[in-house]
Amino acid sequence: MKLFIDTANVNEIRIAKDWGIIDGVTTNPTLLAKEVKHTCRERQEILREICELVHGPVSAEGISLDAIGIEKEGEDLSRIHKNIVIKVPVTPEGIKAMRMLRSKGIKVNATLVFSCNQALLAAKAGANYISPFIGRLDDVGQDGMGLIAEILDMLDNYEFESELIVASVRHPLHIVEAMQLGAPICTVPFKVLEAMFNHPLTDKGIEKFVNDWDKAREVMHK
Ligand code: E4P
Repeated sequence: MKLFIDTANVNEIRIAKDWGIIDGVTTNPTLLAKEVKHTCRERQEILREICELVHGPVSAEGISLDAIGIEKEGEDLSRIHKNIVIKVPVTPEGIKAMRMLRSKGIKVNATLVFSCNQALLAAKAGANYISPFIGRLDDVGQDGMGLIAEILDMLDNYEFESELIVASVRHPLHIVEAMQLGAPICTVPFKVLEAMFNHPLTDKGIEKFVNDWDKAREVMHK
């Protein structure tokens, strides 16, 4: 499974990159707005720095809603770096924009996907990535992981080339369930990536090893 980090925070990306386990980055207008506000830096500048840090796909999304606007904003964003992937919502205008961007060789990530029908439309429009938001579905009492299973089957049944990104991940169990379904990519917030390391028995085990070793050294040096 490829792990993407779901953030626009350069410090978080740098830390996760140093762990050596990050294959890509996803951002969205909310995540970028937060960083623009905190750092007083332009969206382009932040995205460029992210692309220079992580050598993999970096998703970026504009705010236009009509096909021509999405295409124009997508083209502008894609000029920042060759690894930029344009996130486009699956609306009638978005689907048109996906085709237009794909015909120009610009990669597309279909975003805000909440149904298998939306995923089919995105796959038919040639989306490189399809991002179902599972946490937001769970939040409204629907089965996020069930949607992942449906979309994986659909992509497999019809041999589409789009890759599924499990998005809106809220906790480590989401990642385990996504692995069990064979999802190819999960995009994970920094806090959840950190939580993936955690197990109380690991902490307890390390403490015991260090204590036992210290005791042995004390005896040796008496
Ligand atoms: C994915 O690409 C999105 O940026 C993200 O996963 C949205 O997650 P949220 O529901 O936590 O905002």
